Amino acid sequence: MRPDGTSSRSISELAQHRLSRRTALAGGLATAAASFFGTVARPEPAAAAEAGATTRGPGMRRLLGFPAIPPSVADQVVLPPGYQYQLLFPWGHPIVPSGPAFTKDASNSAEEQAQQAGDQHDGMWFFPLKGKRSGLLCVNHECTTEQLLHPDGRANWSPEKTAKSLAAHGVSVIEIEQDRDGQWHLVESRFARRVTMTTPAEITGPAAGHPLLRTSADPDGVRVLGTLNNCASGPTPWDTYLTCEETINKYFYFGEEPPPAGSVEDRYGIGSENPYPWHTTDARFDMRAEPNEYNRFGWVVEIDPFDPSSAPKKRTALGRMEHENAVVVRGSRGEAVVYMGDDTQFDYFYKFVGAEPINKARKHGRSPLDDGTLYVARFEEDGTGRWLPLVHGEPGLTAADGFADQAEVLIRTRLAADAVGATPMDRPEWCTVQPGTGAVFFTCTNNTARTESVNAANPRLNNRFGHIMKIDEGGDPSAEKFAWDVFLLAGDQASGATVPADQAFGSPDGLWFDAAGRLWIQTDGTQPMVNGAPQNNQMLAADPDTGDIRRFLVGPPRCEVTGITSTPDGRSLFVNIQHPGDSGTPANPRVSSNWPDFSATGRPRSATIVITREDGGVVGA
Ligand code: FEO
Ligand code: CA
Ligand code: CA
Ligand code: CA
Repeated sequence: MRPDGTSSRSISELAQHRLSRRTALAGGLATAAASFFGTVARPEPAAAAEAGATTRGPGMRRLLGFPAIPPSVADQVVLPPGYQYQLLFPWGHPIVPSGPAFTKDASNSAEEQAQQAGDQHDGMWFFPLKGKRSGLLCVNHECTTEQLLHPDGRANWSPEKTAKSLAAHGVSVIEIEQDRDGQWHLVESRFARRVTMTTPAEITGPAAGHPLLRTSADPDGVRVLGTLNNCASGPTPWDTYLTCEETINKYFYFGEEPPPAGSVEDRYGIGSENPYPWHTTDARFDMRAEPNEYNRFGWVVEIDPFDPSSAPKKRTALGRMEHENAVVVRGSRGEAVVYMGDDTQFDYFYKFVGAEPINKARKHGRSPLDDGTLYVARFEEDGTGRWLPLVHGEPGLTAADGFADQAEVLIRTRLAADAVGATPMDRPEWCTVQPGTGAVFFTCTNNTARTESVNAANPRLNNRFGHIMKIDEGGDPSAEKFAWDVFLLAGDQASGATVPADQAFGSPDGLWFDAAGRLWIQTDGTQPMVNGAPQNNQMLAADPDTGDIRRFLVGPPRCEVTGITSTPDGRSLFVNIQHPGDSGTPANPRVSSNWPDFSATGRPRSATIVITREDGGVVGA
């Protein structure tokens, strides 16, 4: 074993070792988990049936009821026969019908943008409203394509352009309703609002008020303007929405020289160039003037969609990193347990375990997410693993190690995780929890920088296509130990993939179990050829117990497919198409895609779509 926890064993040896505990995909997970922990629980039959699982005999069920579609490079959203989609909420769509209309030449002002859908839709969640076929939809707007956001793109950068860019980031809360004919539409709503990069937000938890979070505009370190790079998301059991701040390093200007190698800023990815020129018109993004502003981003942020006057809360107990999503479950003591990935090459997978039961915290007016223990995952070669606590004073996390207090452990989570020996992963993106078993699945999207050593949990050098991991805590989310397995290796057969050649995909990113136990997989990045044919990013569904996996959706060129939620009955599935045609320029916005408007004078737009079955059935079943 090497000091970094990697091994010098050959890739094929490692893959054999890990995969021998299961047959490739088919049937393997249940077997591996059962042998380690005993019987695997199943979703309750009634719940599974309601969500569209079809039984095919005692103890058997057929989860996937649609035919797999072939790869596509069309400028379309392609679905299986019998399915249709509706465009619901593209970039620039007003958040209420009476709001400012989108102008297809991108000439909407910053003020108008702040009342319209932001850009680059990502994670989202549907919160049903009682007694109606309606609900609140929270949608993240991860980032912007500046070349398409303004009529003349990045030319002649101005304070107005910074303001529009800030307004196109953040979150939308909209109220939507379904007609008798099945069509969804936005309604005038007291809940509708935009959260942007200028919305006042509060900093809560152990790091609130810390000197590293103080700026000239906020000498108390408790109030920050906005939320940034809102990647994926997660609902809480108490009906709030978590939005996760991811690639924050792109927005802050350090100076002509990059930070020294090994510095905190270097570890957080700050370079000498930032793609967003915000600092040229707003000093809060210039680290020479405001060295702490960037510490106020990279958090999980809680929004109460049912209280439009409430400020978003940055929950510092959940650590600071390039957060992908946040999946909340109840622990064995009734506390909140939150699983989270840090999406950077060689970064880590985390979980938070709350200090007190959710109900008790809320009864006393405390957040279940403000007090608890943050852990980071270590994956051993033998298929076991441990959650390593990131607690100030423990070995490696003392004042002598450079951590003055617990707040510094949280503000510099990555350095704390480095110090305790976490396992560097191939870019952990979304995680999701399997109904019935509580097993945690997470994507490792790819890692072409893994050129020197593999470990059992990251078994491929030059990992172009990524893989999906499975963690089994034996049904106890509060556990400090777990078993793990590689659920699948993505890619083509030549890369060692464990999925059928005709369903080959790469760069798994979005990942979500629906109520029936279908595992939806969304891609973002390099896709393998299928029988010599290239393909765009896509979404597949898998039955993790049988190994059945089928391509369900292919998106337009240069998009990623991300964000997924459904109505409780599973009959309307919401999906985001992010940055279609992102190579467009002011001279030719439509160079690679013109989805979804196909207007001769328009431009491609990120958008939320709603997928339904023509016969009104459960999507995927
Ligand atoms: Fe926003 Fe790692 O994806
Ligand atoms: Ca993205
Ligand atoms: Ca992602
Ligand atoms: Ca990604």
